[in-house]
Amino acid sequence: MKKIKYALAILLPGAALLILLAITSSKKIDIPKTWDMEEIKRFHLHPPNRNVKVKYVPEDIYYNLKEFVLYKNYPLYVKEYEPENYQDSLASLAPEIAVDFSKLVTEEDWIKAGKLVFNMPASLTPANTPLFLDSAFINLTGLEMLPDGEYPYGRYVQTPEGLMRGILSCASCHTKVTEDGELIEGGQGDFIFDRQFGFIVERFSIPIPPDPDGSVVFAPWVDYDERFKKWTSKDQKLALKAIPPGVMVRQGGGVISPIAIPSLFGIKDIKYMDRTGLMKHENIGDLMRYAAFNQGLDMFNKYDDYIPMSGFESHEQITPEEEWSHPFGYANRRYSDEQLYALAKYVYSLEPPENPNKFSAELLERGEVIFAEQGCVTCHPPPLFTNNKLLPATSDFEIPEEDKQELDIFNISVETDPFLAMKTRRGTGYYKVPSLRGAWMREAFFHNGNLASVEDVLDPARLEESYVPTGFKPHDLETMAVKGHPFGLELNKEDKSALVAYIKSL
Ligand code: HEC
Ligand code: HEC
Repeated sequence: MKKIKYALAILLPGAALLILLAITSSKKIDIPKTWDMEEIKRFHLHPPNRNVKVKYVPEDIYYNLKEFVLYKNYPLYVKEYEPENYQDSLASLAPEIAVDFSKLVTEEDWIKAGKLVFNMPASLTPANTPLFLDSAFINLTGLEMLPDGEYPYGRYVQTPEGLMRGILSCASCHTKVTEDGELIEGGQGDFIFDRQFGFIVERFSIPIPPDPDGSVVFAPWVDYDERFKKWTSKDQKLALKAIPPGVMVRQGGGVISPIAIPSLFGIKDIKYMDRTGLMKHENIGDLMRYAAFNQGLDMFNKYDDYIPMSGFESHEQITPEEEWSHPFGYANRRYSDEQLYALAKYVYSLEPPENPNKFSAELLERGEVIFAEQGCVTCHPPPLFTNNKLLPATSDFEIPEEDKQELDIFNISVETDPFLAMKTRRGTGYYKVPSLRGAWMREAFFHNGNLASVEDVLDPARLEESYVPTGFKPHDLETMAVKGHPFGLELNKEDKSALVAYIKSL
């Protein structure tokens, strides 16, 4: 008996210690450091002009930026649908922090918190500033709303400074509303942000600089084509209004070269992010860095002596002063590393909705054979339906020696329009091979989203100058060829239908 007691006396504290260790180690998660200069230099590709030196915001300045606070936020409604006294009732609430990151333990906890970060608006304006979101505006612009009148691209946020209206969460641009009014987070976004902005600046005669003068696209090393040099402020507004759902202006590409929004499903397997492969994706930290850059920090990159963020000449000036007045004022804030980690976990967890297309097994088999025969499998091999490689955007681009070592390149150009890859700040000299998974639910194809369907990608008429693009068509062109990617164009009708069915089944 004594012996047993003695053994217990030794074993029990040992067991307690083990249990304690197990608990603490399950809590301790190794969160990557987002703004690690060595990692940033590895993950961010160079502009196609290798003489340009790119410098990033230094680590100490980045970590001194104020953090976004994840307050609880509430739906925004189109005016006629807003419940009575809605804004007053929100304004009377106490600001509430939505997540305590120190309490997150399980994978599910992190994913749930990440969903809130995904929906957290980055850009806030006091709620009492005028808003023209009524049914007339919805009809005029073709904006989507949910069946109960909710406008899913913005939120109200109750903060210590008062009630705010917020936009530009990840969800603003990466949410799709289906014809049945269903919301799909992570689908190809259909927020016509630019068109809406175009209507607003036109209505209030707000002068905006024409691209390529504007800091949204201007790249100091680029000699712009005559066509763009002639653009006026009016062109800029018309250009904004010409951008259809599924396509968006992103800083660095600008209105000259709006970009098809990707769907985020399956991003974990994708090695290069963005159409131009601008950022590598080798670990979860890279997705965190991607989010930090693209929520505005890339406006502070320094290209030789030029910083795109207008009014800023050095990194030392970055202070959170102009938060509400500057169009990129929200870039004066950063996400915490915990918020970004949760966000990345959530993005990895996104699952596509069920594919409603039902094709006969026979048709799909035939499609699969054609997909192989036509050589599609070389670049779009299963299971990812991309070979995850970068292709030179034009055969004129001379691949630098160091790229051959560092990047996964397939040295064949499909010769689509090289502008985005060669003449913008998002440019790298390359286009990546996009995955065809989920193509059935997308409505913008090729990097500029010039084509609205898989059928149009395979339509030889698009190579003619007399073609009217079915997707994004620049406002100043009546017709234009959507050139390049000359695959599968010559198939007969049956084979083409089988190939389209196969792609839409993926
Ligand atoms: C203003 C709209 C907008 C906002 C806000 C936005 N994105 Fe995007 N996102 C885009 C567009 C447009 C692209 C395509 C860019 C390109 O190809 O160069 C993109 C690309 C991406 C990609 C690359 C995917 C791929 O397959 O290449 C990821 C990942 C991504 N966004 C995640 C996020 C996350 C996370 C957030 C929130 C922190 C966010 N985005 C906020 C519009 C937006
Ligand atoms: C040599 C490599 C290569 C081959 C072969 C190839 N593709 Fe592509 N594919 C690409 C690249 C690169 C793009 C992106 C072009 C761009 O964005 O400008 C693309 C884009 C696409 C797109 C548009 C996807 C999107 O989201 O923008 C579809 C659809 C497509 N390919 C289908 C096919 C089919 C079908 C075949 C065979 C008939 C095929 N591809 C053969 C490289 C290839």
